[in-house]
Amino acid sequence: MRITESQLAEALSGWRTPGIPLIAALASAVREGVLDGRLRTGGALPAERRLAAVLGISRGTVIAALTVLRDEGWVHTRQGSASTLRLAPVAAERLAPRSATGEIGVIDLRRAVPAAPHAAYQAAMTRAIGRSGVLLAQEGIPGPGLPELRALIAQRYTEDGLATRPEQVLVTSGARSALALLCAHLRPRAAAVEVPTYFEALGLLRGASTRLSGFRVTSEGWDTDQIAAAFHAARGGLAYLTPDFQNPTGALMESATRRTVADLAARHRLTLVVDETVRDLDLREEPVPAPRIEGALLIGSTSKTVWGGLRVGWIRGPSAVIAELCRDPLSGPLSAAPVQQLVAVELLSDGDELLRQRRADLRRRRDHLSGLLMGDNRWRFTIPDGGLALWLRLTTDRADELAARARADGLEITPGSRFAADTTLTQYLRLPFTPPTAVLDRVADILGRAARQST
Ligand SMILES: Cc1ncc(COP(=O)(O)O)c(C=O)c1O
Repeated sequence: MRITESQLAEALSGWRTPGIPLIAALASAVREGVLDGRLRTGGALPAERRLAAVLGISRGTVIAALTVLRDEGWVHTRQGSASTLRLAPVAAERLAPRSATGEIGVIDLRRAVPAAPHAAYQAAMTRAIGRSGVLLAQEGIPGPGLPELRALIAQRYTEDGLATRPEQVLVTSGARSALALLCAHLRPRAAAVEVPTYFEALGLLRGASTRLSGFRVTSEGWDTDQIAAAFHAARGGLAYLTPDFQNPTGALMESATRRTVADLAARHRLTLVVDETVRDLDLREEPVPAPRIEGALLIGSTSKTVWGGLRVGWIRGPSAVIAELCRDPLSGPLSAAPVQQLVAVELLSDGDELLRQRRADLRRRRDHLSGLLMGDNRWRFTIPDGGLALWLRLTTDRADELAARARADGLEITPGSRFAADTTLTQYLRLPFTPPTAVLDRVADILGRAARQST
């Protein structure tokens, strides 16, 4: 669809910025227009001559600004047709140049969130909207999930070696909603958790007034004696685990430990909840799915494999448990909007290709950041086989102090203590490798400046 001259003039009104050269100011105004939705992506721009007339500048200035935007990926031009606007890759990484000079602002790595595969995502939304009419013929009252989506998720488990029927799947608005529903429904008085673990899971469990007992996990793995002690302390309650590329350590639980966990959970009558949000981010050249821990309720999500904004996750368990969870009054409010579920169907249907791309990007970025930080004796880390982050043990600093200095220099990172159910991990830092390599160069520079020199 075309962007008309008057739409453009309105969207770019006030684009001239005193003290900023016209080319940079125009490029900046277009970027901002795309980012805040005033200018539609996919929209075709008027011809250069018309643009120049509308904006009251020379054609040469328009051409120069378009060249800058084209090089950055905001404008796409095919021989012989109009230029169209796009979301540049850097914007999809949420690190868009916001200033008129195109500089990247603060790098926010407090969350390990990969960017959306924006072209595939937009195409999936269009397809989903195209066939959403049938939803409007229904009441729109949330149930366990769209039959099509439950069947697709069940099929993916089955292909992954865990035979699953659609009625064993309950769709939620992401993994956190899945855990929130389980907490609200089971009301565990006690829970065993990894130290460190995903901090939002800790928040949900604490919010449910659950008494927590922790067991250590390091980049090298889990200690079964500690698991036994924590499971004993939480007997009759719940255990929350992330055995596949654990967030934040990246550790992958060995098969023997998985069997021990299942035995200990049965012995102490614990409901095992295994969060598999990161399971598919296996960054080895030949990914090998690990065996499941028997008897566990599984939580899944599209947040890391597709995009955090999709808000589609699920619980997989025995059909009787799923039916019981469906009757919980919170299952409706915590379910995913039907249209979002249709988008998820579209995306999961070409999920393998998206996942291959996601893994390849993350592998390259992990190796790049590891290469930049390796050999510096101010920190130690193990290169993880999967996941989204490096887990650094600092040798010269407390992590909160280093994070404060990095923040003053334009980098936001999360100190390890946020991932602890107790007061430990003050020497640790989670460093996501989710952004593109050019941004990771800056991350390593800032970290290098922020960390105290070793003596
Ligand atoms: C283990 C784990 N579970 C859940 C989530 C978030 O899932 P969602 O966005 O689906 O609520 C994350 C994100 O960092 C995570 O690492």
